[in-house]
Amino acid sequence: MRVLITGGAGYIGSTVASACLDAGIEPVILDSLVTGRREFAEGRTFYEGDISDGPLIDKIFGENPDIEVVVHCAALIVVPDSVADPVGYYRANVSKSLEFVDHLIRNGCERMIFSSSASIYRAGDDHTVDEDSPLAPQSPYARTKAVCEAMFADIAAGRPIRILSLRYFNPIGADPKMRTGLQLRRPSHALGKMIEAYEDRVPFQITGTGYPTRDGSGIRDYIHVWDLATAHVAALRRFDALDTDVINLGTGTGTTVRELVEAFNRVVDRPIEVVEAPARPGDVAGAYTRSDRARRLLNWKAGHSVEQGIRHSLEWAALRDSRLGD
Ligand SMILES: NC(=O)c1ccc[n+]([C@@H]2O[C@H](COP(=O)([O-])OP(=O)(O)OC[C@H]3O[C@@H](n4cnc5c(N)ncnc54)[C@H](O)[C@@H]3O)[C@@H](O)[C@H]2O)c1
Repeated sequence: MRVLITGGAGYIGSTVASACLDAGIEPVILDSLVTGRREFAEGRTFYEGDISDGPLIDKIFGENPDIEVVVHCAALIVVPDSVADPVGYYRANVSKSLEFVDHLIRNGCERMIFSSSASIYRAGDDHTVDEDSPLAPQSPYARTKAVCEAMFADIAAGRPIRILSLRYFNPIGADPKMRTGLQLRRPSHALGKMIEAYEDRVPFQITGTGYPTRDGSGIRDYIHVWDLATAHVAALRRFDALDTDVINLGTGTGTTVRELVEAFNRVVDRPIEVVEAPARPGDVAGAYTRSDRARRLLNWKAGHSVEQGIRHSLEWAALRDSRLGD
């Protein structure tokens, strides 16, 4: 089987490509390298360019007529940037995705898996969500994902294409074989900040301690990026048998920031200290999935613990500069 992976030189897309290769599925990568890295596409079939570039999509399908499914990971993903530049984010994530799907239909492609996000949900008081939970995206970035889902549903209703949205929770870790990981040297999410605190020997700030969670800190569903990737392989294999267009990909377990610190300190040789700080603008209490749809329909469940995700993130952080340089 051959699959086209947009954003295949990014963090998640490159890991999906590795999982495909390991499973005997041939990935074809399309990436503009706006945030992705050429190194992540090395040795793989790679087209550098934009998802909205019709002639390029025609060329890819002309040269790879056996592409059966597209995994559409390409997007801009930085929430504060989406607040500062909503036009740019709607153009990148919505307008370009619309053009892209049109190009796919013209080329006779009938199956697409879309990288959606759990950030589109409004969580209940217990901080859990399933696929039927109400949607209430809280940022322009999250809204681009919700708008894309709605747009894809309309298109799939009238044209010969099916689009499955996989709603990811919070990916951590790296490819266990260390082929790829996060591009950024200093990621701004909680685990990134913990690694920074560890490396710089400064306290880690728990931003927001007044949330209605069990310990007041934010709660997330941290899923190992390799587990995310293997879920895509399962979805690729079962695509035609799936009787839904939306599946949550999470572990089903909520981890608070304080619990993440405890897990971090179990993994490292020298514990980090914590200080409490106010919540950052736009921060939310968070959510985790209560759904078993992925297990039922994909016969998949997350196999890695939070500790393993932390360990792989640390391992990648130590390797990153030698792999990527600047
Ligand atoms: N990282 C997360 O926490 C998270 C959570 C939920 C959903 N997602 C979704 O997963 C997908 C992948 O995210 P990621 O974390 O790997 O981000 P990333 O920035 O590492 O990867 C995105 C990739 O898409 C490429 N790209 C962007 N716009 C493009 C365009 N117009 N044409 C071609 N290539 C383009 C970038 O160069 C990059 O390689 C995104 O759609 C994102 O919204 C991510």
